[in-house]
Amino acid sequence: MPGDKSISHRAAMIAALAEGTSRIGNFSTSEDCGATLRCLEQLGVRVSRDGSDLSIEGAGRDGFRAPASPLDCGNSGTTMRLLAGILAGQEFESTLTGDDSLRSRPMQRIIEPLQMLGAEISSSDGRAPLTIRGRKPLMPIDYELLTPSAQVKSCILLAGLNANGRTKVVEDQATRDHTERMLHWFGVPIETGDAEKENERFAAVTGRTVFVGHDINVPGDISSAAYFIAAAALLDGSSLELENVGLNPTRTLFLKQMQSFGLNVTVGNVRDKSNEPRGTIKVETGYDSPSAANNSESSLTLRSALIPQLIDELPLLAVVGSQIDGGIEIRDASELRVKESDRIAATVAGLRAMSAEVEEFDDGLRVNGPIQLHGAQIDSRGDHRIAMTFAVAGLIAEGETEIKDAECVGVSFPEFFELLNSVVE
Ligand code: S3P
Repeated sequence: MPGDKSISHRAAMIAALAEGTSRIGNFSTSEDCGATLRCLEQLGVRVSRDGSDLSIEGAGRDGFRAPASPLDCGNSGTTMRLLAGILAGQEFESTLTGDDSLRSRPMQRIIEPLQMLGAEISSSDGRAPLTIRGRKPLMPIDYELLTPSAQVKSCILLAGLNANGRTKVVEDQATRDHTERMLHWFGVPIETGDAEKENERFAAVTGRTVFVGHDINVPGDISSAAYFIAAAALLDGSSLELENVGLNPTRTLFLKQMQSFGLNVTVGNVRDKSNEPRGTIKVETGYDSPSAANNSESSLTLRSALIPQLIDELPLLAVVGSQIDGGIEIRDASELRVKESDRIAATVAGLRAMSAEVEEFDDGLRVNGPIQLHGAQIDSRGDHRIAMTFAVAGLIAEGETEIKDAECVGVSFPEFFELLNSVVE
């Protein structure tokens, strides 16, 4: 699998803030991470790239320069929200913009804490373009996340690196912790609570520390692997092994979910590298025990604390649910409506077009299963995860499926169709 997108964004941005050179291996091939690199270059960071190997000359805490034109984050929410945190601590003015989808997504969630830290931000009614007039140093804050979001948490922590004191972010529900791990890898003092325990989920940084470049190897992207795992589990006669896939516990709930459906997904050779666990995932078609195939008359409901850890895999889980006894219900997931597209509406429309029985809720959906899907015309809405989800649905469906704007997979996984063709007979 290509390098993890979330980890690659953080590796590039934190390397840019470091003094000296960082080499990054297996950097994500995604367009989103390409947008991050271009923005960093516009800010004066030197990047040299040879395929998935990168070398970044850090600008250091004070070496960024004012960009000559707006910074285009493309389709990437992570680029915009995390860079905003860095730019809040720079003394110049800069503007972050993006494509139509990104300019329609909510940014008040980062504007509010960044203003508390002392940055001046103007927006178009809480949406991009965002113009940021930073301040150095920022004022440290204690902040409780209103939306469970690793992007918002990371934005505040990156801003906190330029604050005069300790900045603490408390979260009610655990979200991916790649920023905390990457800061630790670079030797930045960072405190974290126990993500397993309610009331102890927090991360805190003390600002104005200087740190130096580090080499990083990025594990394969588990969110990209998920499409292959689902396809192999559901397509008769499959056997698939994926090596060097990221197994950070805040990202592996999808695997546990597949296992709880009784599907034959196993993990081995787990090891740590660059402070991120990784290992081999094996998938065989069918159920791992004969009783698992028909043990769940009642449907499975995914909700609340589970949602942030499955957020990018939920459309795919809805498709998998359509093949499972009892189906699946997803609730408390209204965040899906403000992703690259309204992913609840897109998933419901796609599944209905393929003849599934689906109910739509404000905060989720319920799909009955098992059901034979039928090939259909699917509108990806220009959303990479919708296109890949329905490519998997198309493989298990009877008849042909055509996905509109399927090239949008490049946002996270440009080699998706080529790889899929190489493993599917
Ligand atoms: C990401 C966090 C998630 C996820 C996105 C990547 C990240 O968004 O959906 O694809 O890299 O931090 P939120 O944190 O806003 O839920």
